[in-house]
Amino acid sequence: MYHSIGVIGLGVMGSNLALNMASKGERVAVYNYTRDLTDQLAQKSEGHSIFPFYELSEFVKSLNTPRKIFLMVTAGKPVDSVIGSLVPFLDEGDIIMDGGNSHYLDTERRYDVLKNKGIRYLGIGISGGEAGALTGPSIMPGGDKEAYDQVAPIFTKIAAQVEGGPCCVYIGPKGAGHFTKMVHNGIEYADMQLIAEAYTFLHQKLDLTMEEIADIFDKWNQGELKSYLIEITAEILRKKDEITGLPLIEVILDKVGQKGTGKWTSIQAIDNGIPSSIITESLFARYLSALKEEREAAANILSGPEIEAQELDKAEWIEHIRQALYMGKVCAYAQGFTQYKMTSELFGWNLPLEEIALIFRGGCIIRAEFLNVISEAYRTQPNLANLLTAPYFAEKAKAYQLGLRKVVCEGILSGIAFPCLSASLSYYDSYRAGRSNASLLQAQRDYFGAHTYERTDLDGVFHTNWQ
Ligand code: 6PG
Repeated sequence: MYHSIGVIGLGVMGSNLALNMASKGERVAVYNYTRDLTDQLAQKSEGHSIFPFYELSEFVKSLNTPRKIFLMVTAGKPVDSVIGSLVPFLDEGDIIMDGGNSHYLDTERRYDVLKNKGIRYLGIGISGGEAGALTGPSIMPGGDKEAYDQVAPIFTKIAAQVEGGPCCVYIGPKGAGHFTKMVHNGIEYADMQLIAEAYTFLHQKLDLTMEEIADIFDKWNQGELKSYLIEITAEILRKKDEITGLPLIEVILDKVGQKGTGKWTSIQAIDNGIPSSIITESLFARYLSALKEEREAAANILSGPEIEAQELDKAEWIEHIRQALYMGKVCAYAQGFTQYKMTSELFGWNLPLEEIALIFRGGCIIRAEFLNVISEAYRTQPNLANLLTAPYFAEKAKAYQLGLRKVVCEGILSGIAFPCLSASLSYYDSYRAGRSNASLLQAQRDYFGAHTYERTDLDGVFHTNWQ
């Protein structure tokens, strides 16, 4: 009896995915370069149809053909090295799948190299962290459709299920799956930063305790802001530190790390002329947080606004910040899905925007009630230029923009940094500006560089001797 799939890379994600596959009836061969993780999984998977191997050649030989080999190893050179070790043992038609957070251009390169050897390659975005890997992630497979069709029965089974459907859908060719995961992570960065800014306002401006803020997030999580990130934020704010007894959040160092996917999202947007200000501001907020020592020194040098804090009505302003957070999310997701749309057109990928929103409803880190509305917007208007102009969101923006404006203004006057909330408002006002100040920039460019300009009333390009 051969094994239906093999998993290489038995860190938490890899081993949890192997356990998930086995729990859904697959016979899973598993292998890791160091035997400790293989032994750990073997112990943990007593009774599961998981079969540990310590020799790569034996692992490969144990698989049904065409072989299906799923890699969950660190992105970058480790993926190339595993592929290099595998290829000598493979036959034409075998399928290698990379489930790590690989850069989509690396995936495209690997796809091409392996295609010349008759080996199929799928770049599969997996979102949901350790828990998601075990109980049901959101899965974004990219590569040849017919190769995907061979593994679809496994991945649709192990994916999160929402309303009876799997959070797994074929995304598109070559690197499209990893691209979709990359932008998912960019949206995740923005979402996390927006929540952090809402938390800052509630704590610093409304002077609420962590417990009170957790209660507010719990309440928001029962309404249109319902989402995994809102839910875990309430839990995080309630958590007490075992050493000091303080709210744990108060003793966590305010320096954010990042593994690169948000950065890649911004770079790809900038390279391709796609406005991605909110995601990029969330990335810069992380970079600025890393300058902790400089910020501590600057705090003693740079003064904030000297206006006396006026007493704000808590209930009224809690609603303003809820609306501001919702508006910020709409703008951030509008930018993320615009990046999908513009890139899809650029690369001819035909990304399924409605289905991408649908598979983000469960399993992934940005899973949220809100994605039902996004998928509905694309179902009714497949060629929607921008989420903001979908009737539902245009109406929401009309109702909630005042909340966002009030919070941003109050924050600015109070000296609270709102990189993403303010970027959201600027994006909203820029996108709805039928005529903008870009005409002055064109004039300036033509003045000093004779770069010419177009006119609103005549065809053609023009240059003026400005002196
Ligand atoms: C997911 C997560 C996952 C990763 C984080 C870490 O979708 O399951 O996004 O891919 O754990 O994104 O990324 P940073 O270290 O860059 O925040």
